Amino acid sequence: MEDTATIRLGSENFEFPLLKGTEGEMALDTRTLRAKSGFIAFDEGYGNTGSCLSDITFIDGEKGILRHRGYPIEQLAEHSGFLETAMLVIYGDLPPEECFDAFRFSVRENASIHTGMHHHFDGFPSYAHPMAILSAMLNSLGAYYPEMSSNDREQDLAHFNETAALLISKVRTIAAMTYRMKMGLPFVYPDHNRRYAENFLHMMFSKPYNDYVDEHGAAKALDLFLMLHADHEQNCSTSTVRMVASGGANLFASVSAGVCALWGPSHGGANMAVIQMLEDIHKSGDDGTRFIQAAKEGKAKLMGFGHRVYKNYDPRAKILGKSAEGILKSMDIKDPMLDIAKRLEQAALEDPYFIERKLYPNVDFYSGIILKAIGIPVEMFTVMFAIGRMPGWIANWKEIADNPKSRIHRPRQIYTGATLRDYVAMGERE
Ligand code: CMC
Repeated sequence: MEDTATIRLGSENFEFPLLKGTEGEMALDTRTLRAKSGFIAFDEGYGNTGSCLSDITFIDGEKGILRHRGYPIEQLAEHSGFLETAMLVIYGDLPPEECFDAFRFSVRENASIHTGMHHHFDGFPSYAHPMAILSAMLNSLGAYYPEMSSNDREQDLAHFNETAALLISKVRTIAAMTYRMKMGLPFVYPDHNRRYAENFLHMMFSKPYNDYVDEHGAAKALDLFLMLHADHEQNCSTSTVRMVASGGANLFASVSAGVCALWGPSHGGANMAVIQMLEDIHKSGDDGTRFIQAAKEGKAKLMGFGHRVYKNYDPRAKILGKSAEGILKSMDIKDPMLDIAKRLEQAALEDPYFIERKLYPNVDFYSGIILKAIGIPVEMFTVMFAIGRMPGWIANWKEIADNPKSRIHRPRQIYTGATLRDYVAMGERE
């Protein structure tokens, strides 16, 4: 195959190089398009735009493949855990034992947050959305570590390992504290003897003289949930992190922006929306048929279905679907939401509307059922997604920060507003 392509614009031909990824994906390198031709590429929503070269995650949406640093998600789900996968995503390989121990130690040591930050929680009303609190707290966290959040690239990178472990640890503590604050409960300090997911459940649910005990494998299910969210290449929040990082911003500021981007119902907020949808269907006595019909008529959206990249089953949804059944069984919970979800999935998978548009369940379809079974309130679901996605955001920030040729992200636009007009004064105006 040729390694260039020619584009004809008007009467002129322009030649552009072709790029090939390690998995064979092809791209037309249009970086010189405007300089050569005066044209720009218009791609609203970026469905055809490669914004970067990245070594972290590979997705083949047509085949339903997801791999981190070459490892298939199914193998990681079976053999790895959240912290190990976090290291894989951030550092590029599965860590040798000593490195993994050192990372775990650093995560454990960084679990508490500065007591000065406890007071920040007092400033939020109890009805504040946990994503608003999380984003504000992560950005404020940087203020407590000026040496790690200097916006001086070299200095921020010199502290990278510590910052990465700190953020992975503290995002979980802040999330648990947010829940306790909203419930009017005293904060619970992290317990250094507990593992990552179990420690989170302890900080969420322990009561004085009644420590949280994980009897039904909730921590394992939560660890799997977090692991499956660790990274997902150039999605809305990760692209936001890269965009913010491209201006030179530090890691705290960049991931805080990632949280804001994740919040929306088309992205991470979908996991909340799925449970709300299932509950509404349940309450209305619909077996799902009416809802599917409304979705086909454009009057509703089947939340947890569809994806910009996957035109096949999201492999994470398959794993989570099984895990949801497992956790409900081990907890002896009969959640009618699971039955409704399965019926909806079946109906949608057999319906020409969904088949033609290649709409399949995504990661958010079953994750809410697991979180609900563990006892996480619906309002906290997107926060749980953010805890899981932290390694991906960190790894993507590092790719930008490590690249001396990285340029500020600054897309162009096609202006469609009014053309030049003269200002005519209409009397004195303040
Ligand atoms: N229910 C019903 N119809 C849908 C759905 C859905 N969930 N998703 C897409 N469609 C239709 C859409 O109306 C359009 O139909 P038509 O061709 O007749 O206009 C067609 O399918 C193509 O959809 P699109 O809007 O071009 O797809 P997109 O790539 O712009 O959007 C999406 C992807 C994930 C935002 C969208 O599928 C959606 O809103 N899904 C529900 C929300 C959701 O589950 N989000 C979580 C995504 S996965 C986790 C994450 O990345 O955060």
